[in-house]
Order: sequence, then structure tokens, then C-alpha cells
Amino acid sequence: MSSRSLASRNLNFLFHRPRVISNEFTTPPFQALYSTHIVGDKPILVRDFIHSALYHPKHGYFSQRSRSVGVLERSIKFNQLEGRKAYINHLDKVYKQSDTSWFTPVELFKPWYAHGIAEAIMRTANLSVPLKIYEIGGGSGTCAKGIMDYIMLNAPARVYNSLTYTSVEISPSLAEIQKETVGEVRSHLSKFKVECRDAADRSGWRDVEQQPCWVIMLEVLDNLPHDLIYSENQVLPWKEVWVEKQQDRKTLSELYKPLQDPLIKRCVEVMELDSNQSVSKVSSIWSKVFPKPRRCWLPTGCLKLLEVLHDALPKMSLIASDFSYLPDVSIPGERAPLVSTKTIAEEAGWQR
Ligand SMILES: C[S@@+](CC[C@H](N)C(=O)[O-])C[C@H]1O[C@@H](n2cnc3c(N)ncnc32)[C@H](O)[C@@H]1O
Repeated sequence: MSSRSLASRNLNFLFHRPRVISNEFTTPPFQALYSTHIVGDKPILVRDFIHSALYHPKHGYFSQRSRSVGVLERSIKFNQLEGRKAYINHLDKVYKQSDTSWFTPVELFKPWYAHGIAEAIMRTANLSVPLKIYEIGGGSGTCAKGIMDYIMLNAPARVYNSLTYTSVEISPSLAEIQKETVGEVRSHLSKFKVECRDAADRSGWRDVEQQPCWVIMLEVLDNLPHDLIYSENQVLPWKEVWVEKQQDRKTLSELYKPLQDPLIKRCVEVMELDSNQSVSKVSSIWSKVFPKPRRCWLPTGCLKLLEVLHDALPKMSLIASDFSYLPDVSIPGERAPLVSTKTIAEEAGWQR
């Protein structure tokens, strides 16, 4: 989806390259309307900061009813567009008319994208047992409705009648919108339910689901909170980044601690970031003479969600989609998030 990764505008001013004074504190002079409220008296991990900026029930990005997930009023009539240029021009018009900063593929290609997923499920599922679908982060409900429509129209009646479709959505406002969207077809409602909760919280899944099931996550994994690790130079070990309030209570700064958080440590291990054990004398001297601080973003939210799903739904078939690369990222650090805002009638346009 365009311009939505870690879609938090609030973070824009937070994660710019800090001035490293000692190995403990930095004092970047940034201020924010909301960000300082996120941090209490104690420092918090970057992922907890981002989690709050994204999902706080009142101020969080995804809690705002409008804008957080763009909804196309009308499907694009692809048969009336003559080629790629016409499509790009049409998209440009759509973005200018809308106050949203991005549309996801399931919206742009509705209903076909969801129909394609439904067809894939129907071709591979064992249809002699009731079909159980979970969708995580269903946004406006466009995918759920498209899949249910398709199964209703194309599968044997018994498959549609015994279908259960459970949406797990963290945002209360989007959960409501999903019910409205799916409820446009009355018969879907008895098969559809929304659980408004954090899918990465293991306790919400209760007992292990022993039956085969499908899990759909479109544009969710790369939106999840990330952590940040930092190293003063090319050879010193990574440290985990925490966010804390300065004494003036109006500014935030980064605090660096030795790696201790288990999730961060697992992520570092999975990504093989700790494999620079044998540092040569030359590189050690070089890194002292020309120190190059390193910052690396870790998809800890993604790892946590996948671990939880693997544990709670061991027989799931997973369908997930996301960006494989982000253009024009200006935040420093490897795998840094893309943060963008929309100014009037202007949008940094990414093409899918
Ligand atoms: C970028 S939107 C994508 C919406 C939709 N899947 C689409 O493609 O249009 C991300 C969605 O994931 C939801 N979400 C993010 N983190 C979540 C979590 N931990 N548990 C459940 N839902 C989550 C957001 O509220 C939002 O609905």
C-alpha cells in the first residue's frame, strides 16, 4: 500500500539521526503534540512507543474512523482504461479527490483481488469440512465482503452455509466499518464476526485451534511496530533503543541499553545481525578512527504475530501480502519505515 508503512505521521520527527553524546543519552530537539504523552515517567521500547502511536484507542492512527484506511467509493472500471498510463492518470484523479493518503491493493482492485483470494482458497481447501477463515487487520471489510460474495456465488451452497469468517481487528472504529461493509449482504452476517483485539496477543486466541483454517493478512505485517537497535560504530555490539522523556517533559530522547529484551534478541538472531564476532584488528582501528554509527530497524511486531499464530493455529494456511521494498525512505537506518503525509491534492505516488 502506498505510504502507509508504520503509518504514523507522529513518528516523523522522532526518529531522525540523534547526536550521540555518550553511549547513554542523546538530546535531539524534537517536540510533538502527542508523542510526549505516550511516554510516562519510565522509558519505553521503541515498539511500545510505535504501538501507542498506531493503536491508542483515542489518538492512535488506526483509531481514527476516517483516513486510516482509504475506501474507494466506486470500483475502478479497468475495462475502460486503455493501458498503464490511463490507469496511473485515473489513480492520480482518485487520490486528488480523496482525503486519504493511500489505498491498498484490495481496495484499488476491488472486487477482483478478494475474488482471486477466494478462488485460491476454494481450489486448495478441503471443502468437505466447514471452511474456517480468519482475517487479521481487515481494514474496511472490503476483503471479507469480496471473499464471502465470491463463495456465496461460486461454491456449493453447503460450503457457503457452513462458512465461518472471523475478523480480528485492533481498531474499534475499523471493526464497526467492517460490520457495515459485510452487512451489505444480509446473509453474510450470520457467518461473520469481528473480534476487536490485538492479534499478536496470545491470550486473545484462547485454546489452540486444532482444525485446518485459513488466515488472511493483507498489508498488516509490515505495519506492525518495529524496534530499533543502535551501535556507535562498525564493530561495537548492538544496543536496544528506548524512548524517554527529557527533564523539561517536552522533548523525547533515545536511551541505549545492552540487548536484553527477549523478542529483540530473537529477532537479531533470526536476522543474523549478531554475526560479526570475529572483528579484525584493522577494522577495529578503522572503526575508532572513522566511527560510523549504525541504526537498524527490527520487525519485532511481525515476528511476535507470526509466533503467536504458529502457536495458536498450528494447521493454518497463511495468505499474506505486503510491500517487498519501500521507495523514498528518508528515515535513517537499515529497513527504516516509510512515513508520509498528504498535502493538499498532492501525494507521493507509489505504484503497485
Ligand atoms: C494497512 S491496514 C490494511 C487493511 C486491509 N487489510 C487492506 O489491505 O486494506 C492494517 C490493518 O491492520 C489492523 N491491525 C494492525 N495491527 C493489528 C493487530 N496487532 N491486530 C489486529 N489488527 C491489526 C489495522 O487496524 C488495519 O485494519
